[in-house]
Amino acid sequence: MKIQIFLLIACLFLCELCEGKVFTRCQLSSELQKTKLIQKSFLGSWVCLIEKVSNRNTSAYTVSPSGKKFYGLYQIPSKWCKLQKPGGDCNIKCEDLLDDDIRDDTACAVKIYHQEGFKYWTVWTTRCKNDNFITNEIYKCPDLRFSLDRSSPVNTQPQNRHGIHKSSENSSLHSILKRSILQTLQSHRVEEQSRHIN
Ligand SMILES: *[C@@H]1O[C@H](CO)[C@@H](O)[C@H](O)[C@H]1NC(C)=O
Ligand SMILES: *[C@@H]1O[C@H](CO)[C@@H](O)[C@H](O)[C@H]1NC(C)=O
Repeated sequence: MKIQIFLLIACLFLCELCEGKVFTRCQLSSELQKTKLIQKSFLGSWVCLIEKVSNRNTSAYTVSPSGKKFYGLYQIPSKWCKLQKPGGDCNIKCEDLLDDDIRDDTACAVKIYHQEGFKYWTVWTTRCKNDNFITNEIYKCPDLRFSLDRSSPVNTQPQNRHGIHKSSENSSLHSILKRSILQTLQSHRVEEQSRHIN
């Protein structure tokens, strides 16, 4: 019984690591702010960039027709990282650009930005540079309203505060596992209790 529980928990933990995260716009904005790696005045530009290149999916991975590979939220090209061990211009493992930890990705993206500017991402020039829509939207996010230095818009409704995309939560492997663990733990506890009673 103990081993079963251990295996279930180990499995849940592994799935937690392997499962990519898709942020909502507001959650991404506040997570980016928490990294303290990007200037507040550019937050909208970064959020726009991420939306256009990866759909806010931390595990986004694409290969171009010519075979170039792009990793993660910022779709960082492979010359900035190295497979299996830290390397490339950002001295990072490419695999680390696909996990839920956005700090290392962001540090690398900021490095690219300092060397090349936002124009490095051609999509940023075509779809973000002259479009303030996303910048205006994130100032309505509940977590950001008071922390950004800019007069807050009046018309804001409370919305999905801690909003990781969870619409399909119950059907995901993750939640199925989580529920089965809870059930196992519960039945284990009941068993223990009845043993004590006897
Ligand atoms: C996130 O990206 C991965 C890899 O490209 C893909 O398999 C997965 O379906 C994407 N998730 C969503 C919710 O789009
Ligand atoms: C998921 O399942 C739980 C019970 O297991 C239920 O309370 C909840 O409403 C469900 N959520 C969705 C989005 O279906």
